[in-house]
Amino acid sequence: MLTLSQVNKRYPTGDRALTDIELTLPRGQVMALIGPSGAGKSTLIRCVNRLVEPTSGSIRLEETELTRLSGNALRRARRAMAMIFQEYALVDRLTVMENVLSGRLGYVGFWRSFLRRYPADDIAEAFRLLERVGLPHAMDKRADALSGGQRQRVGIARALIQRPRLLLVDEPTASLDPKTSRQIMRLIRELCAERKLAAIINIHDVALAQQFADRIVGLRAGEIVFDGKPGELDADTLTTIYGEEEWDTRVQEEEAPSAAASAAPAPATPLTLATGGAR
Ligand SMILES: Nc1ncnc2c1ncn2[C@@H]1O[C@H](COP(=O)(O)OP(=O)(O)OP(=O)(O)O)[C@@H](O)[C@H]1O
Ligand SMILES: [Mg+2]
Repeated sequence: MLTLSQVNKRYPTGDRALTDIELTLPRGQVMALIGPSGAGKSTLIRCVNRLVEPTSGSIRLEETELTRLSGNALRRARRAMAMIFQEYALVDRLTVMENVLSGRLGYVGFWRSFLRRYPADDIAEAFRLLERVGLPHAMDKRADALSGGQRQRVGIARALIQRPRLLLVDEPTASLDPKTSRQIMRLIRELCAERKLAAIINIHDVALAQQFADRIVGLRAGEIVFDGKPGELDADTLTTIYGEEEWDTRVQEEEAPSAAASAAPAPATPLTLATGGAR
């Protein structure tokens, strides 16, 4: 449903962030995009929704060539692509309900949303979504009264009320503790399955990527250096993506099971990655 072909991005500073990216995302696929800081992950997803202008190349969402759109046509195309951010990007002084409804901005128009006159259908859908993401009792709370995990749930509900076909997710768990991170990734994964959404999820935590994605793409210095199934990601591949030096200190190989432990069925443990600083 999404095809990137020969996509390049060079920032005005001269930084070459993406080089000849070729990527096809089928409908409903959840793809994790991994790679070291500065590899170009955020640039790639921002080129898709044109928050960043690619320097050259083609990006097609179904039949629409996104790189040539402007004005109303671009706004319409953006409705189909919802973003979920690391910092949630909620409006603190608004309630949870208002934050969720702001996801309809692309449909109801600025003044109507400014006056908070949303159609009844949108409000009903916001109720349903808040229930689905596990916040049925928080709708009247101000966004700044929520925990990080709750704020991300609001961010997810706001993305879904847009009725997108594609989710663009930039480090959804970077500010969350490990347990909350898993819950958030599981929720995104389940919602993609329920709504047949494709997703690109930028994520630093390789174990989480392996557990929740259908496919993993590794970026290094703006180039795709790995594209495969989560199970195909081994220590060698991780070295290719992250580089030897950085990697040696970060990855712990699985220990061979002891005789006693091997009596029990071995769980499919993903490679453990101790994530360093979030950015
Ligand atoms: N607005 C900008 N202007 C100039 N250069 C930029 C800009 N944004 C990103 N870059 C450069 O482009 C490259 C890719 O950055 P990008 O933010 O896409 O990486 P990333 O993989 O998302 O990193 P992180 O994991 O730290 O979020 C880096 O070299 C970065 O310095
Ligand atoms: Mg980034």
